[in-house]
This record gives sequence, C-alpha cells and structure tokens, in this order.
Amino acid sequence: MVVAKIAPSLLSSDFACLAQECERMLALGADYLHMDVMDGHFVPNLTLGAPIIKCLRPHTKGFLDCHLMVSHPEQWVDDFASAGADLFCFHIEATEDAAALIDRIHAKGMKAGMAVKPKTPIDVVYPFASNLDQVLVMTVEPGFGGQAFMPDCMQKVSDLRSKFPELDIQVDGGLDTENIAVAAKAGANVIVAGSSIFKAKSPGEVISLFRKTVDE
Ligand code: DX5
Ligand code: ZN
Repeated sequence: MVVAKIAPSLLSSDFACLAQECERMLALGADYLHMDVMDGHFVPNLTLGAPIIKCLRPHTKGFLDCHLMVSHPEQWVDDFASAGADLFCFHIEATEDAAALIDRIHAKGMKAGMAVKPKTPIDVVYPFASNLDQVLVMTVEPGFGGQAFMPDCMQKVSDLRSKFPELDIQVDGGLDTENIAVAAKAGANVIVAGSSIFKAKSPGEVISLFRKTVDE
C-alpha cells in the first residue's frame, strides 16, 4: 500500500530565501522538497545545481527530491551525492545507459528516480521499475512552472500502477486542487506542485487536501 507524499516544487519559491522557504513548507506538512535542476540544454531554462543543494543541506533536514532535467545526468551523480541530495531523478530521454546510472546513484547512497516526458511511452520504464525508488510521470513538458496539467498523461500512470502496486509514482506539472482527484484515481501517490501551493492563500490547506485525496 503506497501512501501520499506531498512535494512542493521550490521552483515557485523565492530563491533568495530558499532555506526559509523549505522550512516553511515542511512546517506546513510537506514530505519532500522538490528541487528542479535545469541545464538550459535538455530544457530551455536554467535553474540551480549541486552547489545550491550543498549550501541548502545544513539548513534543512527535509528530503531533497532532486529532479534533474539535464543532458548527461551521469555527469552529476557524484556532485549531488556529496552535496547531500536524497533522491536523484534523471530523465530516461537523457541517458544511454539507465541501468548503469541507477546502480551508480544507489552506490552513492541516494535513492533513484526515473522521469518520463509527456510524449515518452511508459513501457520504457518497465524493465527498470523494480530497481527504482520512484518513477516520475511528467504532466507538462519539463522546463517551466505554471503550465497546464495534461490529463492525457493519466493513462500512463494507471498502466504503471496496475503493473507496480508498491511503486512510488510521482506526478509533476500543473497539479492543483481541481485535478488532484484525477491524478490520485489514476494511481499517483507522490504529488509535486509549485504554483498551486506557493500561490495559495493557505498553502497548508492545499497540502492537506492533496494528502487526503491521495490517501482516501
Ligand atoms: C517543471 C518542473 C516542475 C514545476 C512544477 O518542469 O519539473 O516541478 O516546478 O510547477 P507547477 O506545479 O507550477 O506546474
Ligand atoms: Zn520537477
């Protein structure tokens, strides 16, 4: 039985106060801190890398769920491990040898996640799923916060859930209080949300509603 894990995306936070924003989210009930790493190459945006994770690490005990939207993710495993990342999630579209990469991530003491873009079929993850700690099904094209949720991606979530009942299945992109029920029904249990949490009048209520919807 999988349980809800709510992962606010710090991409929507004030980067000038990143440590305080992380602590604020944990105090409001967040389970994970979702850190969006973008390289301006795999996606057309540039955010943060291991040096920022390293600076943040002493300021929070939160679980740092690092989503690497980068080409050549192999290049960054050592840096993220020594920076203190808890989970290293790479895109299947960005690597030639996913099996070796998963082994390296685990050998460095991190949990391993694999992400798929909206147009990537879900069956590409099946051969690796039993060795993964989490699969991320993107519900927007990666690169920016604030985009609209793509309901078409829910078929991939339900296909994955029916094959892997115990897997942590993460959804990321456009999740809000309107569409959380659809994502939960499809079988997602790890919910990433940037805009809908950070722009809410009461972010804690949004986190609670997400959790309740997934767990019921
Ligand atoms: C998009 C990122 C997301 C993004 C989600 O490429 O992977 O994590 O921050 O933000 P919202 O919830 O605003 O779509
Ligand atoms: Zn993300």
